[in-house]
Amino acid sequence: MKRSMIVFGVLCSAGISVAAYAKDHEAMGNMAHHQMMQDTNADQRISLQLTPQMKQHQLANMRSHVEAVQSIIGMLAENKFNEASAVAHNQLGLTPEMRKMCNMFGNDDFRKMGLAFHQSADELGDTLKTGDMSLSLKALHRTMNSCVQCHATFRQ
Ligand code: HEC
Repeated sequence: MKRSMIVFGVLCSAGISVAAYAKDHEAMGNMAHHQMMQDTNADQRISLQLTPQMKQHQLANMRSHVEAVQSIIGMLAENKFNEASAVAHNQLGLTPEMRKMCNMFGNDDFRKMGLAFHQSADELGDTLKTGDMSLSLKALHRTMNSCVQCHATFRQ
């Protein structure tokens, strides 16, 4: 009886320490996991270091870009190629205003990407004029590649 109590006690404390080890181990595992997650979650994109005012300005400009793309798609669906072309040139193309804006960011790669984007929108505008749906969609796809590429590279 006495002996079995001792054995039981030993087994119990062994059980507790195994449980404690497992818990510690789990905690360490979680920490390592957390750190890993932090690393992969970290935003690796280049920051443009914008002032709060420039941030608002840029985001508003971006929202008008997405709106322009939305209008172009709607017009394409109704075969309104000329109207879509005007939106591409006037709202996404390389207007003097857009050129000025791209130059404001003080980052050469960003400026180049921005200018290439606006140029591709002018090419889109020219393609839309042809009234060819397939070519137009390809051109829109190319322009949107610029959106995707810049967003993958830069953040505010
Ligand atoms: C030359 C770079 C560049 C190009 C080209 C570009 N963007 Fe952006 N855009 C940005 C940056 C930088 C941000 C801020 C992202 C961040 O900080 O996470 C942004 C943010 C946005 C946002 C978020 C707006 C908000 O209010 O939160 C939208 C929508 C957007 N862009 C749409 C577009 C679309 C659509 C196009 C193409 C037709 C486009 N952008 C082309 C750089 C670009």
